[in-house]
Amino acid sequence: MAENIQTTQTQDYVRFTPSQRMQHLVLIVTFSGLGLTGLAQTFSDQAWAQAIIALFGGVESIRIVHRVLATVLMVTAIYHGGIITYKLFVLGRQASIMPGLRDVRDAWQWVMYNLGFRGEHPHMPRYNFGEKVEYFAVVWGTILMVITGFMMWNPIATTRFLPGEFIPAARSAHRYEALLAVLSIIIWHMYNVHIRRFNRSMFSGKIRRDAMEEEHAQELEDIEEGKVAFEYPPEVINRRKRYFWPYAVIVTIILTGGLIFFVTFEETAITTLPQRQEVVTTDLDPSIGVVEEGAVLWTEQGCDVCHGANADGSESPLEVSIIDRDVTFEQFIITVRRGPAEMPAYPIARLSDEGIAHLWAWFVDTQEQAAPAETEAAPTE
Ligand code: HEC
Repeated sequence: MAENIQTTQTQDYVRFTPSQRMQHLVLIVTFSGLGLTGLAQTFSDQAWAQAIIALFGGVESIRIVHRVLATVLMVTAIYHGGIITYKLFVLGRQASIMPGLRDVRDAWQWVMYNLGFRGEHPHMPRYNFGEKVEYFAVVWGTILMVITGFMMWNPIATTRFLPGEFIPAARSAHRYEALLAVLSIIIWHMYNVHIRRFNRSMFSGKIRRDAMEEEHAQELEDIEEGKVAFEYPPEVINRRKRYFWPYAVIVTIILTGGLIFFVTFEETAITTLPQRQEVVTTDLDPSIGVVEEGAVLWTEQGCDVCHGANADGSESPLEVSIIDRDVTFEQFIITVRRGPAEMPAYPIARLSDEGIAHLWAWFVDTQEQAAPAETEAAPTE
């Protein structure tokens, strides 16, 4: 068998277990899905993003898909943590993915080799420096996304112990980290495992000898020298397992509880929008409106800034004429309370219900005064 290893270039080496490959598959699906549904929301003013949102059936459903994927990813992260704990503390394996000084040396030698200053590439271990960087980028990125995602998912809970500015800050961090992660996967990961060498080991579980020689020469030498990882005797492992399982069950219960709390604690992010819209009372009596009061409010509230002194858009920077708008009192109320397009929303704290009735009285009066001229000016319509 040893001879066989040394002579065949196509000799395969086992690299990943089925569990590792499975986790990687889940990561592919959740990562791509989260990137797609997240970036579509970030860039929702762009046509391509709107097409994606429409594909998912609207903004509400794309948010739900995003959250479901996030939950699957968090469950996988908990599972991954359990596996690592088991390997380190029960099987007593070495944390071969932990970065060390040798990785700095390897990275330097790799650059020198690529630039032609070194004849031979560094002999790298089971996980080379590039893989370690990528792994910890995923770990760090996931932690950051979970924390900032939690803050956006549960804004009320967050502002109970942090100032309100943390919510938009969390959103920026979430968005930029997403962009960074997606771009680094497209550039760095794609290049390393698909373009430089098409490396299927994460799917097949096996790696070819030539890839081993280039990327994990140190590991290959260890295998060929017959160096096997130190194994604890079964009774030691069994004793450790007895400690591990109760511990694992407790930690899993705590983390799962935390996850359920995370997901169900608050409905605000999803329900705020409809709630705020329901608050608008359209059940007002228009007859309480006084034209003169409305004229005062029109300038006091800055309506004239966009719509002009006479609602016809003249002499206002935005020139939004609404003089010929055929709106009902109810539509008028909803417009003012919610604010379409660039128009700000006027909540009750800023403008009372009577105030709206006054504005309406003034608006109708102004429309009536302008109406004869309007009909004469546009007879062809
Ligand atoms: C910052 C600019 C801005 C301010 C201030 C503003 N509006 Fe508007 N308003 C707009 C824009 C933009 C539209 C939407 C135009 C459109 O529908 O194309 C609009 C639309 C409207 C409409 C028409 C709605 C419809 O269904 O056609 C009404 C009525 C209106 N505004 C009333 C007001 C009143 C009353 C105020 C003050 C309390 C006000 N606006 C303040 C910019 C403004």
